[in-house]
Amino acid sequence: AATPDPLITQVQPWNTVLGDGVDVHPYGMPVKYESDVIRRNVPWLTADSVSSINFTPLHALDGIITPNGLCFERHHGGAAEIPKEDYRLMINGLVDEPLVFTLDDLMRFPRENRIHFMECAANSGMEWAGAQLNGCQFTHGMIHNVMYTGVPLRALLEEAGVKTEGKWILAEGADAAGMTRSIPIEKALDDCLVAFKMNGEALRKEQGYPVRLVVPGWEGNMWVKWLRRIEVGDKPWEQREETSKYTDLMPNGKARKFTWVMDAKSVITNPSPQAPITHGPGRTVITGLAWSGHGTIKRVDVTLDGGVNWHTARLSGPSLDKSLHRFYFEFDWDGSPLLLQSRAIDETGYVQPTKDALRKFRGNNSIYHNNGIQTWSVNKDGEAENVEIS
Ligand code: MTE
Ligand code: CO
Repeated sequence: AATPDPLITQVQPWNTVLGDGVDVHPYGMPVKYESDVIRRNVPWLTADSVSSINFTPLHALDGIITPNGLCFERHHGGAAEIPKEDYRLMINGLVDEPLVFTLDDLMRFPRENRIHFMECAANSGMEWAGAQLNGCQFTHGMIHNVMYTGVPLRALLEEAGVKTEGKWILAEGADAAGMTRSIPIEKALDDCLVAFKMNGEALRKEQGYPVRLVVPGWEGNMWVKWLRRIEVGDKPWEQREETSKYTDLMPNGKARKFTWVMDAKSVITNPSPQAPITHGPGRTVITGLAWSGHGTIKRVDVTLDGGVNWHTARLSGPSLDKSLHRFYFEFDWDGSPLLLQSRAIDETGYVQPTKDALRKFRGNNSIYHNNGIQTWSVNKDGEAENVEIS
Protein backbone atom coordinates (compact mmCIF):
# COMPACT_ATOMS: atom_id res chain seq x y z
CA ALA A 1 0.00 0.00 0.00
CA ALA A 2 1.16 3.56 -0.76
CA THR A 3 0.20 5.03 2.64
CA PRO A 4 1.49 3.24 5.73
CA ASP A 5 -1.25 1.54 7.76
CA PRO A 6 -0.91 2.63 11.43
CA LEU A 7 -2.45 -0.69 12.48
CA ILE A 8 0.75 -2.23 11.17
CA THR A 9 3.35 0.50 11.67
CA GLN A 10 2.36 1.64 15.18
CA VAL A 11 2.44 -0.33 18.40
CA GLN A 12 -1.09 -1.25 19.49
CA PRO A 13 -2.49 -1.56 23.06
CA TRP A 14 -2.91 -5.34 22.80
CA ASN A 15 0.80 -5.51 22.09
CA THR A 16 1.87 -3.59 25.19
CA VAL A 17 -0.56 -4.64 27.94
CA LEU A 18 -0.76 -8.12 29.41
CA GLY A 19 -3.96 -9.96 28.56
CA ASP A 20 -6.41 -11.77 30.87
CA GLY A 21 -5.02 -14.69 32.82
CA VAL A 22 -6.50 -18.18 32.63
CA ASP A 23 -8.60 -17.75 35.78
CA VAL A 24 -10.54 -14.71 34.59
CA HIS A 25 -13.24 -16.66 32.71
CA PRO A 26 -13.70 -20.19 34.09
CA TYR A 27 -16.62 -20.55 31.67
CA GLY A 28 -15.74 -18.69 28.47
CA MET A 29 -17.97 -16.21 26.71
CA PRO A 30 -17.68 -14.72 23.20
CA VAL A 31 -15.39 -11.71 22.77
CA LYS A 32 -17.15 -8.35 23.42
CA TYR A 33 -16.75 -7.30 19.78
CA GLU A 34 -19.28 -10.00 18.83
CA SER A 35 -21.91 -8.83 21.32
CA ASP A 36 -24.50 -8.22 18.57
CA VAL A 37 -24.52 -11.94 17.74
CA ILE A 38 -27.43 -12.92 19.95
CA ARG A 39 -30.80 -14.61 19.83
CA ARG A 40 -33.49 -12.05 19.15
CA ASN A 41 -37.19 -11.89 19.87
CA VAL A 42 -39.83 -10.20 17.70
CA PRO A 43 -41.93 -8.66 20.50
CA TRP A 44 -45.14 -8.20 18.46
CA LEU A 45 -45.29 -11.90 17.56
CA THR A 46 -46.44 -13.02 21.00
CA ALA A 47 -48.29 -11.38 23.87
CA ASP A 48 -45.53 -12.03 26.38
CA SER A 49 -42.04 -13.50 26.45
CA VAL A 50 -42.92 -16.59 28.53
CA SER A 51 -44.90 -18.41 25.84
CA SER A 52 -42.74 -17.15 23.05
CA ILE A 53 -39.89 -17.65 20.63
CA ASN A 54 -36.52 -16.16 19.91
CA PHE A 55 -34.42 -16.72 16.80
CA THR A 56 -30.98 -18.13 15.97
CA PRO A 57 -28.72 -15.45 14.37
CA LEU A 58 -28.12 -17.48 11.20
CA HIS A 59 -26.64 -14.48 9.37
CA ALA A 60 -23.73 -14.35 11.83
CA LEU A 61 -22.81 -18.05 11.89
CA ASP A 62 -20.87 -20.34 9.59
CA GLY A 63 -20.26 -24.06 9.32
CA ILE A 64 -23.09 -26.34 10.42
CA ILE A 65 -23.06 -26.40 14.25
CA THR A 66 -25.16 -23.96 16.25
CA PRO A 67 -23.33 -22.79 19.40
CA ASN A 68 -25.33 -23.71 22.51
CA GLY A 69 -25.92 -20.14 23.65
CA LEU A 70 -27.38 -19.19 20.26
CA CYS A 71 -29.85 -22.06 19.82
CA PHE A 72 -33.28 -20.48 19.37
CA GLU A 73 -35.78 -21.05 22.19
CA ARG A 74 -39.45 -21.91 21.93
CA HIS A 75 -41.27 -22.28 25.21
CA HIS A 76 -45.01 -22.67 25.75
CA GLY A 77 -44.69 -22.03 29.48
CA GLY A 78 -41.21 -20.65 30.03
CA ALA A 79 -37.96 -22.59 30.55
CA ALA A 80 -38.33 -25.01 33.46
CA GLU A 81 -35.44 -25.38 35.90
CA ILE A 82 -35.04 -28.96 37.17
CA PRO A 83 -32.19 -30.03 39.49
CA LYS A 84 -30.54 -33.12 38.03
CA GLU A 85 -30.98 -35.12 41.23
CA ASP A 86 -34.75 -34.54 41.06
CA TYR A 87 -35.03 -35.70 37.46
CA ARG A 88 -37.21 -38.74 36.76
CA LEU A 89 -38.26 -40.37 33.49
CA MET A 90 -41.23 -42.74 33.68
CA ILE A 91 -42.21 -45.30 31.06
CA ASN A 92 -45.73 -46.64 31.49
CA GLY A 93 -48.79 -47.79 29.54
CA LEU A 94 -48.70 -50.85 27.31
CA VAL A 95 -45.41 -52.23 28.61
CA ASP A 96 -44.49 -55.45 30.40
CA GLU A 97 -42.92 -53.53 33.26
CA PRO A 98 -43.42 -49.81 33.96
CA LEU A 99 -40.04 -48.23 34.79
CA VAL A 100 -38.66 -45.05 36.29
CA PHE A 101 -35.15 -43.83 35.41
CA THR A 102 -32.99 -41.28 37.15
CA LEU A 103 -30.36 -39.37 35.18
CA ASP A 104 -27.71 -41.71 36.58
CA ASP A 105 -29.76 -44.70 35.37
CA LEU A 106 -29.83 -43.25 31.84
CA MET A 107 -26.04 -42.81 31.89
CA ARG A 108 -25.65 -46.60 32.28
CA PHE A 109 -27.16 -47.37 28.87
CA PRO A 110 -25.01 -47.41 25.70
CA ARG A 111 -24.89 -43.87 24.27
CA GLU A 112 -24.94 -42.51 20.75
CA ASN A 113 -23.70 -39.22 19.28
CA ARG A 114 -25.60 -37.70 16.39
CA ILE A 115 -25.85 -34.30 14.74
CA HIS A 116 -29.38 -33.24 13.77
CA PHE A 117 -31.22 -30.07 12.90
CA MET A 118 -34.35 -29.19 14.82
CA GLU A 119 -36.75 -26.88 13.03
CA CYS A 120 -39.97 -25.52 14.53
CA ALA A 121 -42.93 -26.29 12.26
CA ALA A 122 -43.73 -22.57 12.44
CA ASN A 123 -40.34 -21.53 11.01
CA SER A 124 -41.05 -19.10 8.12
CA GLY A 125 -44.73 -19.22 9.15
CA MET A 126 -45.07 -15.43 9.04
CA GLU A 127 -43.96 -15.51 5.40
CA TRP A 128 -46.96 -17.46 4.04
CA ALA A 129 -48.85 -14.30 3.15
CA GLY A 130 -45.83 -12.56 1.58
CA ALA A 131 -42.46 -11.13 2.53
CA GLN A 132 -42.66 -9.99 6.18
CA LEU A 133 -39.57 -10.03 8.32
CA ASN A 134 -36.31 -8.43 7.29
CA GLY A 135 -33.59 -10.90 8.11
CA CYS A 136 -32.92 -14.62 7.85
CA GLN A 137 -32.65 -14.66 11.66
CA PHE A 138 -36.39 -13.94 11.72
CA THR A 139 -37.58 -15.69 8.54
CA HIS A 140 -35.55 -18.89 9.08
CA GLY A 141 -34.04 -18.73 12.58
CA MET A 142 -36.35 -21.24 14.31
CA ILE A 143 -33.71 -23.87 13.63
CA HIS A 144 -30.60 -25.18 15.32
CA ASN A 145 -28.15 -27.96 14.55
CA VAL A 146 -26.48 -29.69 17.45
CA MET A 147 -24.53 -32.83 18.28
CA TYR A 148 -26.64 -34.75 20.78
CA THR A 149 -25.39 -37.42 23.14
CA GLY A 150 -28.11 -39.68 24.39
CA VAL A 151 -29.59 -43.12 24.78
CA PRO A 152 -31.66 -44.53 21.91
CA LEU A 153 -35.32 -44.45 22.99
CA ARG A 154 -35.47 -47.99 21.61
CA ALA A 155 -33.14 -49.21 24.40
CA LEU A 156 -35.42 -47.81 27.12
CA LEU A 157 -38.57 -49.14 25.47
CA GLU A 158 -36.96 -52.58 25.12
CA GLU A 159 -36.03 -52.48 28.80
CA ALA A 160 -39.70 -51.89 29.68
CA GLY A 161 -40.92 -54.34 27.01
CA VAL A 162 -43.49 -52.90 24.59
CA LYS A 163 -46.62 -55.04 24.38
CA THR A 164 -47.70 -56.11 20.87
CA GLU A 165 -50.70 -53.71 21.01
CA GLY A 166 -48.27 -50.82 21.63
CA LYS A 167 -48.37 -48.76 18.42
CA TRP A 168 -47.83 -45.20 19.68
CA ILE A 169 -45.94 -43.39 22.38
CA LEU A 170 -46.86 -40.20 24.19
CA ALA A 171 -43.93 -37.97 25.13
CA GLU A 172 -44.65 -35.61 28.03
CA GLY A 173 -42.67 -32.65 29.35
CA ALA A 174 -42.27 -31.62 33.00
CA ASP A 175 -42.60 -27.86 32.33
CA ALA A 176 -45.59 -25.69 33.19
CA ALA A 177 -46.90 -26.25 29.64
CA GLY A 178 -46.79 -30.03 30.13
CA MET A 179 -46.13 -30.43 26.41
CA THR A 180 -47.42 -33.75 25.09
CA ARG A 181 -47.16 -35.28 21.63
CA SER A 182 -48.05 -38.68 20.14
CA ILE A 183 -45.34 -40.39 18.10
CA PRO A 184 -45.76 -43.65 16.13
CA ILE A 185 -43.84 -46.57 17.63
CA GLU A 186 -41.90 -47.12 14.37
CA LYS A 187 -40.25 -43.70 14.74
CA ALA A 188 -39.70 -44.21 18.49
CA LEU A 189 -37.87 -47.49 17.80
CA ASP A 190 -36.02 -46.11 14.78
CA ASP A 191 -33.81 -43.09 15.49
CA CYS A 192 -35.19 -41.14 18.50
CA LEU A 193 -32.71 -40.28 21.24
CA VAL A 194 -33.26 -39.49 24.91
CA ALA A 195 -30.54 -36.82 24.97
CA PHE A 196 -28.67 -35.27 27.90
CA LYS A 197 -25.75 -33.55 26.18
CA MET A 198 -25.62 -30.95 23.40
CA ASN A 199 -22.35 -30.18 21.62
CA GLY A 200 -20.56 -32.08 24.34
CA GLU A 201 -21.88 -30.30 27.44
CA ALA A 202 -25.05 -30.66 29.47
CA LEU A 203 -28.21 -29.46 27.74
CA ARG A 204 -28.90 -25.81 28.38
CA LYS A 205 -31.92 -25.13 30.59
CA GLU A 206 -33.60 -23.50 27.59
CA GLN A 207 -33.17 -26.69 25.57
CA GLY A 208 -34.74 -28.95 28.21
CA TYR A 209 -32.12 -29.70 30.88
CA PRO A 210 -31.53 -32.34 31.99
CA VAL A 211 -33.17 -34.47 29.26
CA ARG A 212 -34.98 -33.86 25.97
CA LEU A 213 -36.35 -36.08 23.26
CA VAL A 214 -34.63 -35.93 19.86
CA VAL A 215 -36.92 -36.84 16.95
CA PRO A 216 -34.66 -36.51 13.88
CA GLY A 217 -36.13 -34.81 10.81
CA TRP A 218 -39.53 -34.26 12.45
CA GLU A 219 -41.07 -30.96 13.54
CA GLY A 220 -39.53 -29.30 16.58
CA ASN A 221 -42.72 -29.43 18.63
CA MET A 222 -42.29 -33.21 19.04
CA TRP A 223 -38.81 -32.81 20.55
CA VAL A 224 -40.24 -32.68 24.07
CA LYS A 225 -37.98 -30.81 26.49
CA TRP A 226 -37.69 -31.60 30.22
CA LEU A 227 -38.92 -35.09 29.21
CA ARG A 228 -40.59 -36.76 32.18
CA ARG A 229 -42.82 -39.53 30.82
CA ILE A 230 -43.21 -41.88 27.88
CA GLU A 231 -46.53 -43.69 27.73
CA VAL A 232 -47.06 -46.54 25.30
CA GLY A 233 -50.57 -46.79 23.80
CA ASP A 234 -52.50 -48.31 20.92
CA LYS A 235 -53.62 -45.04 19.28
CA PRO A 236 -52.65 -41.37 19.16
CA TRP A 237 -53.78 -39.23 22.09
CA GLU A 238 -55.08 -36.32 19.95
CA GLN A 239 -53.49 -33.73 22.23
CA ARG A 240 -53.92 -29.99 21.71
CA GLU A 241 -50.53 -29.67 20.01
CA GLU A 242 -51.49 -32.22 17.35
CA THR A 243 -55.09 -31.17 16.66
CA SER A 244 -55.70 -27.47 17.28
CA LYS A 245 -52.01 -26.60 16.70
CA TYR A 246 -49.36 -27.99 14.34
CA THR A 247 -51.96 -29.00 11.74
CA ASP A 248 -52.15 -27.55 8.24
CA LEU A 249 -55.42 -25.88 7.22
CA MET A 250 -56.03 -26.66 3.53
CA PRO A 251 -58.00 -24.59 0.97
CA ASN A 252 -61.07 -26.87 1.34
CA GLY A 253 -61.32 -25.97 5.04
CA LYS A 254 -60.02 -29.33 6.24
CA ALA A 255 -56.80 -29.61 8.16
CA ARG A 256 -54.04 -32.11 7.56
CA LYS A 257 -52.69 -33.55 10.78
CA PHE A 258 -49.61 -35.58 11.64
CA THR A 259 -47.48 -33.79 9.05
CA TRP A 260 -44.37 -34.58 10.98
CA VAL A 261 -41.46 -34.53 8.52
CA MET A 262 -39.72 -31.24 7.73
CA ASP A 263 -39.30 -31.17 3.95
CA ALA A 264 -36.15 -29.96 2.18
CA LYS A 265 -35.46 -26.26 2.58
CA SER A 266 -32.62 -23.77 2.26
CA VAL A 267 -31.82 -20.11 2.81
CA ILE A 268 -29.00 -17.78 1.85
CA THR A 269 -27.62 -16.42 5.12
CA ASN A 270 -25.09 -14.01 3.55
CA PRO A 271 -25.79 -11.61 2.05
CA SER A 272 -29.15 -11.06 3.72
CA PRO A 273 -30.93 -8.05 5.26
CA GLN A 274 -28.90 -8.14 8.49
CA ALA A 275 -25.68 -8.91 6.59
CA PRO A 276 -25.40 -6.65 3.53
CA ILE A 277 -22.49 -6.68 1.05
CA THR A 278 -20.21 -3.93 2.38
CA HIS A 279 -17.16 -4.38 0.13
CA GLY A 280 -18.57 -3.19 -3.19
CA PRO A 281 -18.20 -4.95 -6.54
CA GLY A 282 -15.70 -7.72 -7.14
CA ARG A 283 -14.98 -11.00 -5.39
CA THR A 284 -18.10 -11.95 -3.44
CA VAL A 285 -19.06 -14.98 -1.34
CA ILE A 286 -22.63 -16.16 -1.03
CA THR A 287 -23.31 -18.71 1.69
CA GLY A 288 -26.27 -20.44 3.24
CA LEU A 289 -27.82 -23.50 4.82
CA ALA A 290 -29.82 -26.41 3.44
CA TRP A 291 -31.52 -29.29 5.22
CA SER A 292 -34.06 -32.08 4.82
CA GLY A 293 -36.03 -34.19 7.27
CA HIS A 294 -35.79 -37.01 4.72
CA GLY A 295 -32.01 -37.38 4.89
CA THR A 296 -29.02 -35.66 3.32
CA ILE A 297 -28.89 -32.78 0.83
CA LYS A 298 -27.68 -33.87 -2.60
CA ARG A 299 -27.37 -30.46 -4.25
CA VAL A 300 -28.08 -26.77 -3.71
CA ASP A 301 -28.66 -24.35 -6.59
CA VAL A 302 -28.20 -20.60 -6.33
CA THR A 303 -29.60 -17.94 -8.66
CA LEU A 304 -28.47 -14.30 -8.87
CA ASP A 305 -31.29 -13.20 -11.17
CA GLY A 306 -34.49 -14.45 -9.56
CA GLY A 307 -34.44 -17.90 -11.12
CA VAL A 308 -33.52 -17.18 -14.75
CA ASN A 309 -30.13 -18.86 -14.39
CA TRP A 310 -29.26 -21.41 -11.70
CA HIS A 311 -25.74 -22.33 -10.58
CA THR A 312 -24.67 -25.35 -8.56
CA ALA A 313 -23.39 -24.27 -5.14
CA ARG A 314 -20.42 -25.86 -3.38
CA LEU A 315 -21.24 -27.93 -0.29
CA SER A 316 -18.59 -27.81 2.43
CA GLY A 317 -18.53 -29.67 5.73
CA PRO A 318 -20.02 -33.01 6.67
CA SER A 319 -23.11 -34.16 4.77
CA LEU A 320 -25.03 -35.90 7.54
CA ASP A 321 -28.48 -37.43 7.76
CA LYS A 322 -31.12 -34.86 8.86
CA SER A 323 -28.48 -32.25 9.59
CA LEU A 324 -27.76 -28.75 8.31
CA HIS A 325 -25.55 -28.58 5.21
CA ARG A 326 -23.40 -25.50 4.47
CA PHE A 327 -23.17 -24.22 0.91
CA TYR A 328 -21.08 -21.51 -0.79
CA PHE A 329 -21.23 -19.81 -4.14
CA GLU A 330 -18.33 -17.52 -5.05
CA PHE A 331 -18.70 -15.06 -7.91
CA ASP A 332 -17.46 -11.75 -9.27
CA TRP A 333 -20.18 -9.16 -8.51
CA ASP A 334 -20.43 -6.40 -11.13
CA GLY A 335 -22.36 -4.17 -8.71
CA SER A 336 -25.74 -4.53 -10.41
CA PRO A 337 -28.85 -5.42 -8.37
CA LEU A 338 -29.37 -9.11 -7.55
CA LEU A 339 -32.36 -11.32 -6.84
CA LEU A 340 -30.83 -14.08 -4.73
CA GLN A 341 -32.46 -17.44 -4.13
CA SER A 342 -31.31 -20.90 -3.12
CA ARG A 343 -33.01 -24.21 -3.88
CA ALA A 344 -32.27 -27.46 -2.04
CA ILE A 345 -32.54 -30.95 -3.52
CA ASP A 346 -32.42 -33.83 -1.05
CA GLU A 347 -31.34 -37.44 -1.37
CA THR A 348 -34.86 -38.53 -2.36
CA GLY A 349 -34.70 -36.19 -5.39
CA TYR A 350 -37.28 -33.81 -3.85
CA VAL A 351 -36.77 -30.22 -5.00
CA GLN A 352 -37.56 -27.29 -2.67
CA PRO A 353 -40.67 -25.59 -4.12
CA THR A 354 -41.38 -21.93 -4.79
CA LYS A 355 -43.73 -20.19 -2.37
CA ASP A 356 -46.25 -19.86 -5.21
CA ALA A 357 -46.16 -23.60 -5.88
CA LEU A 358 -46.73 -24.25 -2.17
CA ARG A 359 -49.68 -21.85 -2.00
CA LYS A 360 -51.26 -23.40 -5.08
CA PHE A 361 -51.52 -26.67 -3.23
CA ARG A 362 -51.82 -25.56 0.39
CA GLY A 363 -53.85 -22.36 0.03
CA ASN A 364 -53.30 -19.17 2.02
CA ASN A 365 -54.39 -20.21 5.50
CA SER A 366 -51.35 -22.19 6.53
CA ILE A 367 -48.88 -21.29 9.24
CA TYR A 368 -46.74 -24.38 9.55
CA HIS A 369 -44.37 -26.17 7.17
CA ASN A 370 -43.46 -23.30 4.86
CA ASN A 371 -40.39 -24.60 3.01
CA GLY A 372 -40.75 -22.27 0.01
CA ILE A 373 -37.82 -20.62 -1.75
CA GLN A 374 -36.70 -17.35 -0.10
CA THR A 375 -35.73 -14.29 -2.18
CA TRP A 376 -33.38 -11.48 -1.13
CA SER A 377 -33.26 -8.40 -3.32
CA VAL A 378 -29.77 -6.85 -3.21
CA ASN A 379 -29.39 -3.27 -4.45
CA LYS A 380 -26.29 -1.65 -5.99
CA ASP A 381 -25.10 -0.59 -2.52
CA GLY A 382 -25.20 -4.20 -1.33
CA GLU A 383 -28.23 -3.75 0.93
CA ALA A 384 -30.54 -6.75 1.02
CA GLU A 385 -34.30 -6.87 1.48
CA ASN A 386 -36.87 -9.64 1.90
CA VAL A 387 -39.05 -9.72 -1.24
CA GLU A 388 -41.26 -12.06 -3.20
CA ILE A 389 -41.18 -12.44 -6.94
CA SER A 390 -43.48 -14.46 -9.14
N1 MTE B 1 -41.14 -29.21 25.12
C1 MTE B 1 -41.70 -28.73 26.24
N2 MTE B 1 -41.72 -29.50 27.34
N3 MTE B 1 -42.25 -27.47 26.28
C2 MTE B 1 -42.26 -26.66 25.16
O1 MTE B 1 -42.75 -25.53 25.23
N4 MTE B 1 -41.68 -26.44 22.76
C3 MTE B 1 -41.59 -27.25 21.55
C4 MTE B 1 -40.48 -28.29 21.65
N5 MTE B 1 -40.54 -29.00 22.89
C5 MTE B 1 -41.68 -27.16 23.96
C6 MTE B 1 -41.10 -28.46 23.99
C7 MTE B 1 -41.42 -26.48 20.33
S1 MTE B 1 -42.79 -25.81 19.58
C8 MTE B 1 -40.21 -26.42 19.70
S2 MTE B 1 -40.02 -25.67 18.20
C9 MTE B 1 -38.99 -26.95 20.35
O2 MTE B 1 -39.24 -27.62 21.57
C10 MTE B 1 -38.04 -25.79 20.66
O3 MTE B 1 -36.84 -26.28 21.18
P1 MTE B 1 -35.69 -25.27 21.56
O4 MTE B 1 -36.20 -24.35 22.63
O5 MTE B 1 -34.52 -26.12 21.94
O6 MTE B 1 -35.37 -24.49 20.30
CO1 CO C 1 -42.08 -25.16 17.59
